[in-house]
Amino acid sequence: MFEITKRDGMARIGKFTTTSGRTIETPALLPVINPKIKTVTPRELYDEFGFGAMITNSYIIKNTPALKEEAQSKGLHEMLDYPGIIMTDSGTFQSHMYGEVELTNKEIVEFQRSIGTDIGTVLDIFTEPFWTKEQTAESIVETLKRTEEAVSLKGEMMINGVIQGSVFPDLREDCARKLAEMDIDVHPIGGVVPLMEQYRYSELVDVIVSSKMGLNPNRPVHLFGAGHPMILAFATLMGCDLFDSASYAKFAKDDRMMFIDGTFRLQDMQSLDCNCPACRGMTLETLKKTEKNERIRIIARHNLYQIKQELSLVKRYLREGRLWELAEVRCRAHPAMLDGLRKLREYQDFMERFDPISRESAIFYTGIETRGRPVFKRYDDRIMTRYIPPTKKAALFYGGQNKPYSRFFVSDFVNARRQGYTPVVISPFGPVPAELDEMYPIAQSMFPSIEDTDTENESDELSLAFLEKHFTEGVVNGSDLEPEYNGEPTDEEIKDNDTKRVWAVARYQFGIEAAEALLKGELTFRKSRKTGKIRNVFSDGEHVLSMRAGDGFFTLRMEGAKRIVENIPAPRMRVQVADDAVPFISQGRNAFCQFVTAVDEELVPMDEAIIVDKDDRPVGTGKMLLVKNEIFSMKKGIAVKTRTGSDEDKDE
Ligand code: GUN
Ligand code: ZN
Repeated sequence: MFEITKRDGMARIGKFTTTSGRTIETPALLPVINPKIKTVTPRELYDEFGFGAMITNSYIIKNTPALKEEAQSKGLHEMLDYPGIIMTDSGTFQSHMYGEVELTNKEIVEFQRSIGTDIGTVLDIFTEPFWTKEQTAESIVETLKRTEEAVSLKGEMMINGVIQGSVFPDLREDCARKLAEMDIDVHPIGGVVPLMEQYRYSELVDVIVSSKMGLNPNRPVHLFGAGHPMILAFATLMGCDLFDSASYAKFAKDDRMMFIDGTFRLQDMQSLDCNCPACRGMTLETLKKTEKNERIRIIARHNLYQIKQELSLVKRYLREGRLWELAEVRCRAHPAMLDGLRKLREYQDFMERFDPISRESAIFYTGIETRGRPVFKRYDDRIMTRYIPPTKKAALFYGGQNKPYSRFFVSDFVNARRQGYTPVVISPFGPVPAELDEMYPIAQSMFPSIEDTDTENESDELSLAFLEKHFTEGVVNGSDLEPEYNGEPTDEEIKDNDTKRVWAVARYQFGIEAAEALLKGELTFRKSRKTGKIRNVFSDGEHVLSMRAGDGFFTLRMEGAKRIVENIPAPRMRVQVADDAVPFISQGRNAFCQFVTAVDEELVPMDEAIIVDKDDRPVGTGKMLLVKNEIFSMKKGIAVKTRTGSDEDKDE
């Protein structure tokens, strides 16, 4: 069972529970234990490092008589002295490394089940990147057949259904789609180790995203063989939930230490500047002089601490809605990873469907790749299609770091407007009409004041298209306007500007037709005495919307919801729930996935949604936590966080 508890775009924090009743929070990394060696004991992994899941190899156990017997008599958990989740692999990786393994799928699946593995693995066929497409496609047919067999044999054991397909995105997506139909519990993305070893990160991005496109969001995705701390933020960003690392031990044997910016040989290092519990108090000299076995142990433990620390950081950034930032920074560790990041931009459209309309944290620019985030694309799309200019003449302003613009350019904006111009600020996002300047992501973003040329060029290109489309009667530089009308806005002008802002934000957030329905009457506002910002919007005296101070977006009031339902056909902005849930939601309880019967597929996380019953009557309003296909595939979890139920009479 997998439940998403927090998300940032495609990345998620989840709670995964095995059939055996063991639970782990994802993203998680499973250290690989070689049952013959145990550089670090499973007990230490669990107690000291806090790794709640590990992975070991059932093929090695089965082929080692003493281990085989012990595992079958005691069970794997007792044999390894490990109370957490144990995943086992099947021997596929051995066949990739050493050629054919003498084993059938049925044998190894049944063996894994007999030793009490929590999650077993099919004997999939490792698709090598140098294979032809035909060869790859043929082997997938066999892998799928074996996976069906594994599912029929799994019993109480959970099963890994491995996505193969080498570097062919269409084969990956198709394989994932077929696996999504089967009763599988976890989806590893397989066959990626050579890509990572050869630094083919841009292909890795194709592989991960195309696999994700075919999968259901209700199962954790495991990136098989990825365990370097360097990749964790980026892979999590693309929606991977599980990772495994054998390198922590393998590297230790070769005196190689993992750090967030790469792996370094002990002999090449100039100093040991590490404060992890394994290295603390140790100099490079003492480590070099330490006896070989003890040194392996220290380095293995150091490597594990690096992984653990990075994973905690990934989760923190994810929770704060800042994972893009961390991933962009991490991808600077190697130019090949930067290729991966640049490649990811090609999937902006797909990613945008999962990208929240607003985040709690501001957007921090980290470099030219920042413009590749889906949040930019959404802004660009919506100002082109959902914006209606108040006048057809624009006055342009520059100086994008002074936000919100309308508070910085007070007098200039007054001057422009009195001459019939709409003020538009040219920013790294592209053009920002004055009416939208307090809204996420415009006001909640930080860019360096010295712009890079890529961002500048893109912004200029967008501005041109925007101005051409909306401002057909002329565009001037704000600084070229005669300053004769400069001054403070009158009360009437303030009211007029507020009205324009409310319309512009409502159109941007809900669409042009929905804004018409919401704002059709005479508008009045209640404003914050302290900040002067709009708080509540009344249309013909009815409270239809409230504006959030943090992101400048609206929350929907029940009255607003009713207007939309009356004027805009379903399923727009709706989440429809079954009758059993109605009494609870109308009292303000959340809408859970299992009660949802229909969803507008355009709704994105953090969007305002109207919860309706089967006859399209509004029963509440709230905030989307998941998107349509997630809601329908999840068995558990909150789909919409209800703000107000129809039986409540709360006024915020
Ligand atoms: N370990 C690393 N890659 C793979 C893979 O593709 N399949 C399996 N079963 N194990 C792996
Ligand atoms: Zn260390």
